[in-house]
Amino acid sequence: MTATHDARQELAAALRWQVEAGADEAILEAPIDHFAATPPTPGAKPVTETANEAPIAPPAEAAPGQSDTPTPPAASSGTPPASPAPPRLEPADAVNETARDLAGGCEDLAALKTALATFDGCALKSTATNLVFGTGAATADIMLVGEAPGRDEDRDGTPFVGASGQLLDGMLEFLDLGRETNVYITNILPWRPPGNRQPTGAEIAACLPFLERHIALIAPRLLVFLGGTSAKTLLNRTEGITRLRGRWYDYASPAMETAGMAPIPAMATLHPAYLLRQPAQKRAAWLDLIAVREKLDEITAVREH
Ligand code: URA
Repeated sequence: MTATHDARQELAAALRWQVEAGADEAILEAPIDHFAATPPTPGAKPVTETANEAPIAPPAEAAPGQSDTPTPPAASSGTPPASPAPPRLEPADAVNETARDLAGGCEDLAALKTALATFDGCALKSTATNLVFGTGAATADIMLVGEAPGRDEDRDGTPFVGASGQLLDGMLEFLDLGRETNVYITNILPWRPPGNRQPTGAEIAACLPFLERHIALIAPRLLVFLGGTSAKTLLNRTEGITRLRGRWYDYASPAMETAGMAPIPAMATLHPAYLLRQPAQKRAAWLDLIAVREKLDEITAVREH
């Protein structure tokens, strides 16, 4: 064994550790201070479990003057390149307004997908491989909203195709629900956060108008929020998923109000990725999904009566 060999072994072990911890992509030379972005603490009323609450407002936006967009490297001049300048942002209000304008003008899913693809207000677009829009039946009775694409989804451009998607599909199938027939699936974010890190409040706020429009266009009978990020964002609540899950809420949004839509019953449940890590929690998720199936049966029975 040489010292060089030992050093390489150490480096390889350090790299493996990073990959296992989720840092599987090198994105920028300098780190981004995500704590500099304002967390989602909207001033709007949270959704409560009682019906007919006020519409949900988006999370707070990033402070003006910050940017999600990496500055392009300086042109080569013979001197070593300076470290990248700190990212500069369009003011968050402007980003949100652009998103609202773009999303609000979309009359169908194809138009919304195209509008999202042209939207430059979320820096995740520049590190993602694909836009991950949605999958399933456009006439679905049930719309599920996860958090953000992972590595498999980013490669494929389809939500929930990896291990957690397989678990989700299996659970849905058992309840006679599926993407081919009565389920539609999307995420809070349409682009993968590098290394599967937690989305920032600014990223969520920038993309939220598209999601609100997405929900209004599908107009499902029931909504299911998968995991804490989805539940907290769409219910505008701060509690964790273990407190939020297993109850019915009324979801509404500015996009639905504009379209004259009534609130949609929504259930929050545990994220399938969490269930893969904590199989003992599957029982709770089953109870939630069974409640969703029963509610759908009730609604269908009333409709057919
Ligand atoms: N986790 C999510 O929240 N969404 C996906 O699409 C995949 C994994």
